[in-house]
Amino acid sequence: MAAAWNVFIEGDNLAVLPGLDPVDLIYIDPPYNTGNEFAYRDRYGEHEAWLAMMRPRMVAAREVLRATGAIFVSIDDNEVAHLRLLLDEVFGEQNFLAQVVVNLNPKGRQLGAGFATSHEYLLVYARDAGRCVLDASTSESVDPRDFPLSDGDGRRYRHLPLRNTNKKFNPVTAPTLHFPIHGDPGSGRVATTPFAGSVEVVPVFGDGAPAVWRWSRPRIDERPDDLVCRTVSGKLGERVDVFQKDWLHRDASGARRKKLRTVWLASEVGSTDTAVAELKEIVGHVFESPKPTGLVRRILQTMPADITVLDFFAGSGTTGHAVALANAADGGRRTCVSVNSAEPTRPGSNARNAGLRTVADITRARLRAVAEKIGGGFEDRPAPRL
Ligand SMILES: C[S@@+](CC[C@H](N)C(=O)[O-])C[C@H]1O[C@@H](n2cnc3c(N)ncnc32)[C@H](O)[C@@H]1O
Repeated sequence: MAAAWNVFIEGDNLAVLPGLDPVDLIYIDPPYNTGNEFAYRDRYGEHEAWLAMMRPRMVAAREVLRATGAIFVSIDDNEVAHLRLLLDEVFGEQNFLAQVVVNLNPKGRQLGAGFATSHEYLLVYARDAGRCVLDASTSESVDPRDFPLSDGDGRRYRHLPLRNTNKKFNPVTAPTLHFPIHGDPGSGRVATTPFAGSVEVVPVFGDGAPAVWRWSRPRIDERPDDLVCRTVSGKLGERVDVFQKDWLHRDASGARRKKLRTVWLASEVGSTDTAVAELKEIVGHVFESPKPTGLVRRILQTMPADITVLDFFAGSGTTGHAVALANAADGGRRTCVSVNSAEPTRPGSNARNAGLRTVADITRARLRAVAEKIGGGFEDRPAPRL
């Protein structure tokens, strides 16, 4: 039997982590140091108590991560500075990959005085930056109809002007990119030096003002086949111009990849409100601040589709849900281990009223529902004995 997409282990993560097989990706959303929900709060040194809870768990997390792996940690303003220093210490500053701003509350926090905080962070570290397989890009959603041309092999492309159309870039601001190119509008051939049948082309804006190219001379010399010379008609009549063949398919997997920026918008990954709605849909309104599956799915996109994922502060089981959704969408074979302690739910809460006595019960309920609705199976595994 193939391994279940989702495995759950109940227990204190510090006890569970050393018994786990190596994993490729860790995503965690530790309890935040806010309000009463934080069990590790103490009056004398809140940050110290929180860090004392986190330090051994980060050390254990590093131990279980493969050399090619990476860790993503969700955190808010209260602890981000402390956590970053802790992760620098445990993983090494040289393995810091990013501090992403995640706009999880687009309306902003309306409670209390001061700014309406509308974001949290994701701290991203490699176990070993030199060997990490994380690719900080995502599949771009492009409409193939925007690529109307095709070459001899049927590969589709579109023409983009090689001229930089942004007026900020001109011969004054970018002098090395203003030079003549030689092209033959009959054959389409382009070169940086004259050849038989070529005409000289200099970059100009639509109104005739001097412009600059987007590619340097060496780049043109390297990739002349990705350029084409054509006669076009503009405001000032016909002129000869140079275009880049922008291919629909670029990488080996056939997807156009777009580099991930370090600001992730709720419109791209979902918000806390959408996360509550997702959870309500599958088990009920039984957890206060889940993360949206879109956030975890974007993280999953940075790694291969057959990885082992670990979330050892699993809460409502968002990570396992996202793994199943990602597998269902792209045929991947990711597996996910979720860990949560048997922290009691509040008497009178929706969870308790629904018969879910602990947070571990909530995690299990969601992962079971995920297996039923999306597939991939579910295994409720006893904590490994040490
Ligand atoms: C902020 S919540 C995670 C929410 C989750 N990302 C989601 O989308 O539902 C943190 C969770 O960590 C759990 N937790 C706290 N300390 C733990 C420990 N030592 N071992 C395992 N789980 C723990 C809490 O029960 C809580 O559910």
